[in-house]
Amino acid sequence: MFALTAEITKGLRSRAWFDNPGNPDMTALYLERYLNYGISREELQSGKPIIGIAQTGSDLSPCNRHHLELAKRLRDGIREAGGIAMEFPVHPIQETGKRPTAGLDRNLTYLGLVEVLYGYPLDGVVLTIGCDKTTPALLMAAATVNIPAIAFSVGPMLNGWFRGERTGSGTIVWKAREMMARGEIDYGGFLDLVASSAPSTGYCNTMGTATTMNSLAEALGMQLPGSAAIPAPYRDRQEMAWRTGKRIVDMVAEDLKPSDIMTREAFINAIRVNSAIGGSTNAPIHLNAIARHLGVELSIEDWQTFGEEIPLLVNLQPAGEYLGEDYYHAGGVPAVFGQLIEHGLIDESVMTASGKTVGECYRGAVITDENVIRPFDRPLKERAGFRVLSGNIFHSAVMKMSVISQEFRDRYLSNPEHPNHFEGRAVVFDGPEDYHHRIDDPALGIDANTILFMRGAGPKGYPGAAEVVNMRAPDYLLKQGISSLVCVGDGRQSGTSGSPSILNASPEAASGGGLALIETGDRVVLDLNDGRLDLLVDDAELARRREKLAADGGYQYPAHQTPWQEIQRGIVGELETGAVLEPAVKYQRIAQTKGIPRDNH
Ligand code: FES
Ligand code: MG
Repeated sequence: MFALTAEITKGLRSRAWFDNPGNPDMTALYLERYLNYGISREELQSGKPIIGIAQTGSDLSPCNRHHLELAKRLRDGIREAGGIAMEFPVHPIQETGKRPTAGLDRNLTYLGLVEVLYGYPLDGVVLTIGCDKTTPALLMAAATVNIPAIAFSVGPMLNGWFRGERTGSGTIVWKAREMMARGEIDYGGFLDLVASSAPSTGYCNTMGTATTMNSLAEALGMQLPGSAAIPAPYRDRQEMAWRTGKRIVDMVAEDLKPSDIMTREAFINAIRVNSAIGGSTNAPIHLNAIARHLGVELSIEDWQTFGEEIPLLVNLQPAGEYLGEDYYHAGGVPAVFGQLIEHGLIDESVMTASGKTVGECYRGAVITDENVIRPFDRPLKERAGFRVLSGNIFHSAVMKMSVISQEFRDRYLSNPEHPNHFEGRAVVFDGPEDYHHRIDDPALGIDANTILFMRGAGPKGYPGAAEVVNMRAPDYLLKQGISSLVCVGDGRQSGTSGSPSILNASPEAASGGGLALIETGDRVVLDLNDGRLDLLVDDAELARRREKLAADGGYQYPAHQTPWQEIQRGIVGELETGAVLEPAVKYQRIAQTKGIPRDNH
């Protein structure tokens, strides 16, 4: 068989399609079809790199829709630097629109994009990121294929306002729902209040999963410095598109690949930035997934080891007051990096997509509004990272310390004889429908000393892992001023929620995790000194329950509704290890390890 050598491809994968003298028939076949929209043979055989624009915007994905417009400036930049742009659609992922979960589509988009990046004549790619799972899906695929890649964010929406106060994406939903439960607003008022938080194109303007993941894509080095926080409608966003387009062409010339940028040190930098920004509890899932596709060691424990001690600097909802525009004006990711670098918490030698190191890009970056981004020695909260808990019913679960309110701390963690220690009675729900159906039923006996459990909400059980673990207290408790109970579950929580829930419990009930064994009425103890949550049920009783569950056929979850639900359930892993498609992990750096795929005719 004719082998393609580096001499023939001259380092460019696309030449194997468009300029392969050893195989004129196929070269002609590839060329003629790509010529058919007016691009010339001269261009395709010029030796210019072909740059893909992985387009995540569409009518079905409103958060990223502005990328349809921004792609024009990406193309300008690509062309100006001597590349040829080829834009293509990515399977849509809309966090708020996709049922049963967008989590299910993160891995589907990943799979699809791996095939596109590997199987088409692309030398480099711009990853258009934004809405929650678009960022990890695209970075995961770029990690697996490992051709030069740069991320480009769509940017957050403008700030939402209602009667002179900022209304932030998602966060306003939890707040408005409580107001409605207390009778302060009616259904129409509820909808108006929620809609006010979405005033323009762009992604969620709170420090939810979108702002988190876009910030971390920059912290990992995969976006140009200062790119993450620019609001979607700002002119600066258009300018950054042009710069990003220019830069990817140079990255191809330099052969600067995701594996050169996203090293273990880059992930540790990102963990620290995540604590300082008050990032979402979805971040460990997504970053662990990207790391696994690169073959970089990263464990759930690393999030506590490197992140817990970091203070909260960014004053954005849900942990704070402000929103995306304010974050940008205060200095965005560079200002956060600047503070962490000054305190010796960042590995400055890590390479970034810009071709410069983290230190070269960010050392000395200043805060321009200290209300929004606090200096390191005047933080909003000390030790604001995640606690990684373990216990007798799960191997790991994550708790976001930056959102623990004083009310919650006073009620649950301030017993003078036993600080950071709380014992309560379990009330268990199997999925959100069960929860909605029964939460307000006084017969359940829910009071301030109840611990609410949500199970069947993980990657396999739901499927895709739903953001349903942060459970609102019953209306009768809300009226008494008790809004947050301790919640535990094998699902996720929206990054826009300020609940101090215990999330991402792994293994999930549906894959044999101990959550399946809890019964309503069991006593449970949360001990934050030791980082444990334990069911106070003796081993013999737990063994008896386990046997009975096995005899009943294991933990029951809803039937598959689509082919992908069934396929994903068969091969997906736990949240703690990224909820990736396990068989995919062995395919790493395939552009280097697998060569160019065979001709198709
Ligand atoms: Fe798309 Fe929040 S729903 S970014
Ligand atoms: Mg969400």
